[in-house]
Amino acid sequence: MRLADLARGAGAVLDGNGDVEITGIAYDSRHVGPGDLFVAVQGLHVDGHHYVGDAIRQGAVAVAVERSVKIPEGIPVLRMPSTRIGLAELSAEFYGRPSLRLKLAGVTGTDGKTTVTHMAEHVLQASGIVAGAMSTVAFKVSGREVDNASGQTTTEAPEVQAWLARMVEGGAQCAVIETTSHALVQERVRACDFDVAAYTNVGHDHLDYHSTWEEYLEAKARLIDLTANAADKGIEKTAVLNRDDASYDRLARRPISRRWTYGMTTASDLHPLELAITGTGSRFRMKTPMGETEVMLHVPARFNIYNALCAAGVCLALGVPVEDIGRGLAGFEGVRGRLEPVDLGQDFRVYIDFAHAAGSLASALAELRPFTRGRLIVVFGSTARSDHDRPGMGRAAAEFSDFFIITTDDPLSEDPVEIARDVQSGAAGKAPGRDFEVVIDRRAAIRRAIEIAEPGDTVLLAGKGHERSMRTARGSEPWDERAEAEAAIKARC
Ligand SMILES: Nc1ncnc2c1ncn2[C@@H]1O[C@H](COP(=O)(O)OP(=O)(O)O)[C@@H](O)[C@H]1O
Ligand SMILES: [Mg+2]
Repeated sequence: MRLADLARGAGAVLDGNGDVEITGIAYDSRHVGPGDLFVAVQGLHVDGHHYVGDAIRQGAVAVAVERSVKIPEGIPVLRMPSTRIGLAELSAEFYGRPSLRLKLAGVTGTDGKTTVTHMAEHVLQASGIVAGAMSTVAFKVSGREVDNASGQTTTEAPEVQAWLARMVEGGAQCAVIETTSHALVQERVRACDFDVAAYTNVGHDHLDYHSTWEEYLEAKARLIDLTANAADKGIEKTAVLNRDDASYDRLARRPISRRWTYGMTTASDLHPLELAITGTGSRFRMKTPMGETEVMLHVPARFNIYNALCAAGVCLALGVPVEDIGRGLAGFEGVRGRLEPVDLGQDFRVYIDFAHAAGSLASALAELRPFTRGRLIVVFGSTARSDHDRPGMGRAAAEFSDFFIITTDDPLSEDPVEIARDVQSGAAGKAPGRDFEVVIDRRAAIRRAIEIAEPGDTVLLAGKGHERSMRTARGSEPWDERAEAEAAIKARC
């Protein structure tokens, strides 16, 4: 693509030769290739403006900057007030503004984003609409799945736009993208023309990055603003909001054409009626603004009822007929690593879950309790990331399980024994051996939990979820929680 065309489309000021052909967009000088436009972005830790020279040596044929830096003679420059916004706009332009050719929903919130994203994508596909999705776990186009190995839930703008373009090429009519608040603040989805902004809940996680809850909420609220101001594609711009969440009053104040609420009470536009919890999920009649539908959910936990209501709101707003919603949800088998059952016919239940913070651990356990006749046993550890409340995790396990095993979860360079000690310090009043054990080796911990399980018990393996690696002082080693769980179940039989 000609630099001048790219600049015009993205609203950038061009200084130099506009006939240069751009074959790619890069924001990390280490990944620049010949023919790339290098966009200098001020990051959290590094400033891309310091790497302009490196980028050019690697083959960048043009650069985009937001402040003046020394640039070699003859290299064309794009100047813009914000290269973060610029990166998004340039990427969208480079890939042909794919979001204009898709009905697009963004899902944000503290918990449940990945689940809602895949639930909605599943319902869309089930109703015969070709759909795409991007989440922490996977990128999907028309039912085909690629692992998200980027380590980021919402990738940087060039990858976001590239995936949207792949979806368009793959024939997708709709797409659902999981959108973190980091991504919103960093403008990674800025040039996405959303039609639907969906919210799960807004809790108190991630306060290391956003200093206050207000600020965090403000970051999350941007998805509504982006949606309200996005290009009109003939469907009403809709916010899907959790009426039962503390964030609701704030979010409901943001202007947007249509607001649908969901929750447990009749005050919400989408809510369950005649709710029955079954052994492995729930059954209810779902009231929606477009009529009612019978729902059978084959995923456990009360929060999944919320997730289903939210996903239903997204799909209705994207044009799925109400009668297809119930049918679609009935076929949803869950997201990899999100209360994922491991069932080899054993007489106790085993679930794998990604919960790796005190709050999500507590809620995952609380959710499994009603489905558990016997004891609730949990295996978990705390990661090296210091923002996780380690004693809080110990407290959660002590309060909500009957027996817990503290183990290792991505310790990086920290000593797993020290981490386990921190976790254990939250479990005051619990006795080692009687109420819990510390088994540092995760494989052994999983085997232990499964060995002691009795008929009717539930074993929750928390923290790793869909992840494919264990990061220790030795580096990143392959890890497959499901394979470990299956091996442990087989070893017992
Ligand atoms: N609506 C919800 N409210 C509270 N907790 C939830 C909700 N949905 C899922 N969870 C918990 O959070 C974990 C992560 O779910 P996920 O869908 O991956 O959320 P996210 O993508 O927002 O991190 C789940 O395994 C479950 O323990
Ligand atoms: Mg996620």
